[in-house]
Amino acid sequence: PELILSGIQPTNIPHIGNFLGVISKWVSLQRTTHDSVKLLYPIVDLHALTIPRDPEHLKKSKLETAIILLACGIDPARSFIFEQSKIPAHTEVAWFLNCITPMSWLSRMTQWKAKIKLNKNIQSIDDEVLSSSGLCLGLFSYPVLQAADILLYKATHVPIGEDQVQHLELTRDIAVTFNKMFHQNVFPLPLSIMSDRIMSLYDPSKKMSKSDPSNTRINLDDSPAIIAEKIKKSTSDSLKCITYDPITRPAIANLITIYAAMQEITVDQAIVEHSKSDIKTFKDALTQVIIEKLSPIQEEIQRLRFEQGYVQQVLKGGAEKASIIAEKNLDEIRKVIGLK
Ligand code: TYM
Repeated sequence: PELILSGIQPTNIPHIGNFLGVISKWVSLQRTTHDSVKLLYPIVDLHALTIPRDPEHLKKSKLETAIILLACGIDPARSFIFEQSKIPAHTEVAWFLNCITPMSWLSRMTQWKAKIKLNKNIQSIDDEVLSSSGLCLGLFSYPVLQAADILLYKATHVPIGEDQVQHLELTRDIAVTFNKMFHQNVFPLPLSIMSDRIMSLYDPSKKMSKSDPSNTRINLDDSPAIIAEKIKKSTSDSLKCITYDPITRPAIANLITIYAAMQEITVDQAIVEHSKSDIKTFKDALTQVIIEKLSPIQEEIQRLRFEQGYVQQVLKGGAEKASIIAEKNLDEIRKVIGLK
């Protein structure tokens, strides 16, 4: 890899799905990549605007997301964390890409199709814009802005969860189209770095999501009592023993995945450890493992909440470093398309 980039939306508090899926990977890439590899982790506040939200809440969520990334071990000396909206080149490149992306490609995005389904109940125009399931143009072209985030920096690798794979494929298609249209290899085709998918604690057929009710996920700042309660109430099945079978026992398989990922052991090792456990014993052990893993992170979250000046400084520094790459590439893109 030459440049690794991945974004996170500042919507609510990141959960253990975000943590095990991507954040912990972002942290380990700091150790496993050569110093010359640039690591960029934008907090994508412009993407968050596609769902109506209170301005004060957005501001707070952005800072909280930055705090959590730092508490999880993102090192600002190695990785650039920054607010997407601080670098206007994201929106400018998004516009260029909007102009070469067929609408039919966007209509095929599963996240868009899911929103259309939800939207069937919407009656009035006000509902259309103001309700959280409303469909606005920004939501439709959301994946193009994501492509701009990636292509603006000529990212070569993108560590993401499974739900973002389709968006990355679209990004590659847009890059190919751009390169062909202007007869130049401006954009490298970004590859994904894939990770485990963590499912909802309530419905194992759905991914754990920031926008679902709070009992379906464990937030990184949940207290030990809340973690214990959520694991206790998490869906299991009628079998007493612990076996790993994502098809016939999806809920238990998800809990085992969480257990193994939290300790960086394999699923096989987890199964061996719990070959004699019943569900209750296993859930108690899982609760302990989560609490132990999150405890130092939560201490750091508490500390950083009183260091907001420092966190703002980190975001500012990240944006300054990212904008050097952005400006250089934007200049090239403008020349290629004839704006300069
Ligand atoms: P977002 O904010 O929904 O999620 C951030 C990242 O977390 C991953 N993720 C999960 N991984 C495993 N299990 C889960 N339950 C789970 N839930 C979320 C997501 O796959 C994602 O990688 N559109 C993106 C943000 C984005 C972006 C980008 C990503 C904007 N620009 C450029 C990569 C590159 C999103 O909404 O992520």
